[in-house]
Amino acid sequence: MTKRTIIITGGAGFIGSHVVRLFVNKYPEYRIINLDKLTYAGNLANLKDIEDKPNYRFVKMDICDFEGVYQLMQEEHVDGIIHLAAESHVDRSIKDPFTFAQTNVMGTLSMLQAAKLYWESLTTPYVMQDVDRLPSSLAHVIPTEERGSVSMGKELGMTSTPCRFYHISTDEVYGALEMTHPQGIEPPFTTKASSGEHHLAYGEKFFTEDLKYQPHSPYSAAKASSDHFVRAFHDTYGMPTVVTNCSNNYGPYQFPEKLIPLFINNIRHRKPLPVYGKGENVRDWLFVEDHARAIDLIFHEGKVAETYNIGGFNEWKNIDIIHVLIKTVDRLLGRPEGADEDLITYVTDRAGHDMRYAIDSTKLQKELGWEPSLQFEEGIEKTVRWYLDNQEWMDNVTSGDYQKYYDDMYANR
Ligand SMILES: NC(=O)c1ccc[n+]([C@@H]2O[C@H](COP(=O)([O-])OP(=O)(O)OC[C@H]3O[C@@H](n4cnc5c(N)ncnc54)[C@H](O)[C@@H]3O)[C@@H](O)[C@H]2O)c1
Repeated sequence: MTKRTIIITGGAGFIGSHVVRLFVNKYPEYRIINLDKLTYAGNLANLKDIEDKPNYRFVKMDICDFEGVYQLMQEEHVDGIIHLAAESHVDRSIKDPFTFAQTNVMGTLSMLQAAKLYWESLTTPYVMQDVDRLPSSLAHVIPTEERGSVSMGKELGMTSTPCRFYHISTDEVYGALEMTHPQGIEPPFTTKASSGEHHLAYGEKFFTEDLKYQPHSPYSAAKASSDHFVRAFHDTYGMPTVVTNCSNNYGPYQFPEKLIPLFINNIRHRKPLPVYGKGENVRDWLFVEDHARAIDLIFHEGKVAETYNIGGFNEWKNIDIIHVLIKTVDRLLGRPEGADEDLITYVTDRAGHDMRYAIDSTKLQKELGWEPSLQFEEGIEKTVRWYLDNQEWMDNVTSGDYQKYYDDMYANR
């Protein structure tokens, strides 16, 4: 069995926690290091079920802390990075673009540069050159005795393990697609994730991997910039990188500022459901565990320097999703069908709101054989049940109590 040591950044967040859980359980021979700053979006309670596993370590760290990240890579002999840590909420990026540039761009650059210097130090005698390019305040992170040392990789016995930097990104970097068919048309593709009852496309075009980037929000602009840096590290330094761009995810453990958990909770408590504009914007939805399975496959079998789009051909107008959520929550709570339709409240549209996202994931399906496992109806039922059954998790998040979990669990460790 191959032993690997992998840093997963942002592992306490929504998607990251599913990726950490999958890797820790599926690969007991791997060492999985969850590197997370625990911003408001990071919640270690998402990982309660695996936190005591021997192949798991949590490290509270900012990805922008270049020195800390570099030292951790040395200490742990890291050979793989799955980078999910980011500021991820578009509305927050509109209010505070600086934080998004800092975390998503500078943080990614810090991860890249640390990995580059560490991996080069394993295989080349010329680390010195790179040290000289560092700001003088950081030059000490590579101890003098290690600079220029020949073949550190052999001493560490790590040269045979292929290193990999896998960057997780979003379909939002491609910009918005036009809604050429507001009534919907027969879609050209189907996957297991496509809704069985409602399967429509709202335009003829889809996001493919070769499309020009046209980000519109500060969030997507920062993600686009980080994607460019990742590719530049491959093209300039030969770093073994992979980038994936995924559509909207839904499922358990999502912070309830995002549409699906927010609305499930509001319906439960009969609070208004604020719908942007007319609710016509279209998003393409994928169950989060199917994204995590795609990440596992691509991390191991994806081609270096490639980009893969991940999505399930499952387009929905926001307002239609909201009707499904109301119907499902009301049914599961034993309320009369449609009882909570009057909670829908139309509010001023989001600035620069992208009209339609729709991913073409044909490349991933054909080249690596990935298929989503859950049809949308099953995924939504599972998701609504999870939030209704885990009210304590939701209450801790909405009250802010989840932020004490780190102190309770780790203060004396
Ligand atoms: N949610 C989606 O629908 C979606 C879709 C496609 C791609 N993505 C991408 O997937 C990744 C994860 O998204 P998510 O929805 O799970 O996000 P999230 O907001 O739920 O989690 C982000 C995590 O990153 C951590 N983090 C933030 N800043 C950090 C920093 N400076 N240092 C270390 N950790 C930091 C947070 O504490 C949190 O645990 C992001 O890169 C996002 O762009 C998300």
